[in-house]
Amino acid sequence: MKSIKRVGILTGGGDCPGLNAVIRSIAKPAMTYFGATVVGIEDGFEGLVEGRMRELTPKDIGGIIGVGGTILGTSTKGNPFQFPVDTPKGIEIFDYSENAIRNYKDWGLDVLIAIGGDGTMHIVDRFTNMGLNFIGVPKTIDNDLAATDVTFGYYSAVGVATDAIDRLHSTASAHHRVMVVEVMGRYAGWIALGAGLAGGADSILIPEIPFKWEKIYEHVLRRGKQGDRFSIVCVAEGAKPAEGGLVVKETDKKRTDPIRLGGIGDLVARNVSDATGLETRVTVLGHLQRGGSPTAYDRILATKFGAKALELAWENKFGYMVSLRGTEVTAVAVKEAILTLRTVPLNAQEIIAARAVGTCFGD
Ligand code: F6P
Repeated sequence: MKSIKRVGILTGGGDCPGLNAVIRSIAKPAMTYFGATVVGIEDGFEGLVEGRMRELTPKDIGGIIGVGGTILGTSTKGNPFQFPVDTPKGIEIFDYSENAIRNYKDWGLDVLIAIGGDGTMHIVDRFTNMGLNFIGVPKTIDNDLAATDVTFGYYSAVGVATDAIDRLHSTASAHHRVMVVEVMGRYAGWIALGAGLAGGADSILIPEIPFKWEKIYEHVLRRGKQGDRFSIVCVAEGAKPAEGGLVVKETDKKRTDPIRLGGIGDLVARNVSDATGLETRVTVLGHLQRGGSPTAYDRILATKFGAKALELAWENKFGYMVSLRGTEVTAVAVKEAILTLRTVPLNAQEIIAARAVGTCFGD
């Protein structure tokens, strides 16, 4: 067994409540019980390519369990195998994985624990195949990683979105309006489903159920006839009409996933207003969902994930990702973890329960 004396940590992809709790629960025991040096890599894989790394001290990791964001910084643009560089000819993509490997070796890392979403796990898999000692910790508010039942950050985001829906109810009912709230989630509807269910949204639109415009119009009009003169429509940014595609805000070649979603909320509000004559308003929650303090659940899950990652390092179980199965934190081979995205199954209990209370999914 390789003795672990130098542990690298990076956070990759979009930030997410709970990242600091993971960093803390890796670094504290690594320093305290194993006498290891912990090297923090700045801004995810971008920092690994560029050699922006520093040894962390106990002071760095004190008092961070409830702090949002990541003390290490992160980036959605630093895939070492497709590294974007601004050149006089425009953005060009280069393979800079050799730089990343050189920095990994120069800093004497025995293991690198990468905390990230599916983009990060794909990179972890490639470096693992090249013989480097990587361990993955799954994070994303989108909750779309297949090999874990839940990712930390998800319930924090759902909490923010639920609170927003609660607040929107006041204006919806006072002004008899249709209030559309657009939430994040990329190609999965978990956030919309969770917040829509918890907030009692009247319609929930998710990517997994392409919607028919007529069904939404009928639902808000029917509510009006029943005396409920307002509606809340919770729409996932990746939701799309049965006849039509994703609404994309912009594409950016530098990003690991070049597509930035956004705008479906506006489209829904405009069409509902045109078709029904009802007054509509739209609220796009955006990055509010990723900000702020993690919930108690996410702090606990993140802490358990970090501790497990360190345990895997000690056991030399490289190429594994920490995962939650039921109530148990376990590990799964990264190559299996990246096979598919975890979208909402059509028979999800949340969908069944929402339908039972009269929620419209636009189908
Ligand atoms: O993956 C997390 C997420 O917040 C998605 O829900 C969203 O589509 C995306 O990141 C937004 O990315 P950015 O912060 O780079 O605009």
